Amino acid sequence: MVRFQTASSKGGDPRRATTSGSFRSMSTTSAVVLEPAGVVAAGVTKPHAASNRAEINQTDKRERCTVPLIAGLAVNSFPRRLRACLTALALRYWTDQPRSVRMSKVTVVGAGKYGSTTAQRLAAMDIVDEVVMTDIVEGLPQGLALDMNQSRPVEKYRTLVIGTNDYADTAGSDVVVITAGLPRKPGMSRMDLLEVNAKIVKDVTEQIIKYSPEAILVVVTNPLDQMTTLAAEVSGLSHDKVLGQAGILDSSRLAHFLSEATGVDILEIDALTLGSHGPTMVPVPSQCTVAGKPLTDYLSDDEIQAILERTRGGGGEIVALLKTGSAYYAPSSAAARMVAAIIKDEKAMMPVCAWVAGEYGINDVYLGVPAKLGKNGVEEVVVMDLTADEIAALAEAATSVKEKVDELHQLEL
Ligand code: APR
Repeated sequence: MVRFQTASSKGGDPRRATTSGSFRSMSTTSAVVLEPAGVVAAGVTKPHAASNRAEINQTDKRERCTVPLIAGLAVNSFPRRLRACLTALALRYWTDQPRSVRMSKVTVVGAGKYGSTTAQRLAAMDIVDEVVMTDIVEGLPQGLALDMNQSRPVEKYRTLVIGTNDYADTAGSDVVVITAGLPRKPGMSRMDLLEVNAKIVKDVTEQIIKYSPEAILVVVTNPLDQMTTLAAEVSGLSHDKVLGQAGILDSSRLAHFLSEATGVDILEIDALTLGSHGPTMVPVPSQCTVAGKPLTDYLSDDEIQAILERTRGGGGEIVALLKTGSAYYAPSSAAARMVAAIIKDEKAMMPVCAWVAGEYGINDVYLGVPAKLGKNGVEEVVVMDLTADEIAALAEAATSVKEKVDELHQLEL
């Protein structure tokens, strides 16, 4: 049973485009999913609005039988044993009912290209009650939210998007995706963005933590490794609750290029990149397969190297073509995939920018590594069987990120 009551922003707080309503919690299936990188890279978990509806109908049925069942318990003429049985059964029905009246909520900070596409993808997944989208530009998140919400009857999902300029509306978020910041312009490196975006991410993180002190933060603003580090430092959250998005995107780009070069179906490609998001990205050919076979069965060493190089510059290639702004379709797929794994407590493994504390012989740095994501954020950094060259490249990437973090610490924010 889901009830919506639509209200335009006219009558209420103009900073908040709101649709009020009450929701029965849409419980989602929790399953342990260990996904190969290519599956992560190539496919986003599809929403199952219909299955959500089925769950809700079942809940209604349970609700309907609970009342007569409990009424039955009052019949004192029932034998004691039968009454005890019925009580146990009734209790089971009760505890089976969705427990949380509390709404599940994800906030996306930044209603630009990346943020709005992420909000839309998350809403269409139908895995949370609300997606709050906030931005400093007045009217932008509200207008986009209204537009997105009006697609729900056609797309068949219920998640409501709230557009706002007020951080109070983000209160109690389970996960917050930080996309606020400037995108790269042609010729601009991610490092050029450092100072301007660091100020934005610091400010955003302070605001978010004020209202959602328990949230898990997924950072996507570039330069990614430093911005993730900064968000962790400013928030004061434990490292497992702050992570960055890069590895799923880079792996996905690599999978696309491999599919294009080999002619093999994109869904038959497993690809993995680790390390930093940028020049010290570490593609991991030993873990990449095409139709279950090693890359060398399909491509020459030179062809593989050319593809890995193109993957390293994958973001820059799109920036050069767009001329204004940077990529957001594949990036938003990657960010939404991470949020889904956390919200659904999947324990799914995927490459993310996570705090490394001893794994691969590397210490105390945010770096792209394979990790299992669940309701607590990064639940495990997975140590894979990498080649000596790949481990050396990972160590080099860690050194490079540490140098960049030093630059970050020299800024006056
Ligand atoms: N608080 C909230 N929103 C902000 C703030 C702030 N302090 N500062 C800027 N923004 C908003 C802008 O108003 C804009 O709507 O962030 C949004 C950025 O959107 P775009 O310019 O479209 O950039 P986008 O493509 O979304 O990229 C955002 O992701 O991939 C990275 O490099 C990219 O760092 C960039 C970020």
